[in-house]
Amino acid sequence: MKKVLIIGGAGFIGYHLSKKFLKKKYKVFVLDNLSRKHTDIEIKDLRKNKNYNFIKGDILNFNNLKKKLNNDYSFIVNLAAIVGVDNVINNSYDVMYKNALINHFALQIAKKQKRLKKFIFFSTSEIYAGSLKNNLIKFPTKENNLISLVEFKNKRQTYMISKIYGEMMCFQSQLPILIIRPHNFFGPRMGKSHVIPELLSKLNNKKKKFILKNGHHQRTFCYIDDAVEIIFFLIVNKNKNTVYNVGQQKPVITILELAKKINKLFFENKNIKTEKKIFDHSPIKRCPDITLIKKEIKKMPNTSLNTALNKTFLWYKKYL
Ligand SMILES: NC(=O)c1ccc[n+]([C@@H]2O[C@H](COP(=O)([O-])OP(=O)(O)OC[C@H]3O[C@@H](n4cnc5c(N)ncnc54)[C@H](O)[C@@H]3O)[C@@H](O)[C@H]2O)c1
Repeated sequence: MKKVLIIGGAGFIGYHLSKKFLKKKYKVFVLDNLSRKHTDIEIKDLRKNKNYNFIKGDILNFNNLKKKLNNDYSFIVNLAAIVGVDNVINNSYDVMYKNALINHFALQIAKKQKRLKKFIFFSTSEIYAGSLKNNLIKFPTKENNLISLVEFKNKRQTYMISKIYGEMMCFQSQLPILIIRPHNFFGPRMGKSHVIPELLSKLNNKKKKFILKNGHHQRTFCYIDDAVEIIFFLIVNKNKNTVYNVGQQKPVITILELAKKINKLFFENKNIKTEKKIFDHSPIKRCPDITLIKKEIKKMPNTSLNTALNKTFLWYKKYL
């Protein structure tokens, strides 16, 4: 049986990716320090599967973990990082050095492997934020769009810079690598501090009026089952040393339109408006060009936004 090590595998993407690997008859090893601290009924369920192995630990304590790790993983996926806008802003220095160190140790584990096929690094769509700010971006955005930096005093941008640095570390490692740039995945178990769970929570009351921040921002969203389908395919296929945008190119929707859609699907008829003032440094638009993944995958999974929102809403109703 082939083995995969997923570092940060107890989080949102890691949980869904673990399930996919188990379904495809892999032995899954998850290393995670459980720093998200949210309900973990689902991880408990996964642990009942004899092919799922959970190692509780912080990869930053690499020297103490070595004995618990194997040297015959086919794939190593690094999902662990300091993430989340508030978390990043409050720990901006840690983001710079810990995200690099996490990836360094993950790459050290990869270098010890006897039959590694690929090391997979999760970057972010935020790495295009500097190019957007400097008017150097095209929409939809291709992977080879020029990457540009921003003002160094900006705390939020430490996340983006740590991911650019992480991509560069991978390319210099001499290992077979795959870089994923996720674009707004959503679905069950994604935590609370993302736009869709935030809207579900804020609209769930009897008030008639709702004033939104940054309602003019434009995004495309990708349901987690579709994302995992694409990612699994990219991991196990033969292509190496490539960067892929993973997400959906359509529909492009404003946050105001999204809020209205969620309100219409699940809540009472509220009057939703957006404030004109710009509140943070969040990118005004994100839309990936997904030509590269379309070339690889015969049939792009494409769950409709309504179906995906429904599934997400049902999960949040049950667990939160
Ligand atoms: N969810 C998205 O749409 C999205 C978008 C862009 C980028 N990404 C990237 O994908 C990756 C996974 O995202 P996610 O949404 O699943 O995040 P998540 O926070 O749900 O999962 C990350 C996991 O890593 C673990 N972790 C963090 N530091 C660790 C450490 N030092 N040692 C061991 N475990 C540690 C956490 O406990 C958590 O379970 C992240 O690197 C993120 O930057 C995700």
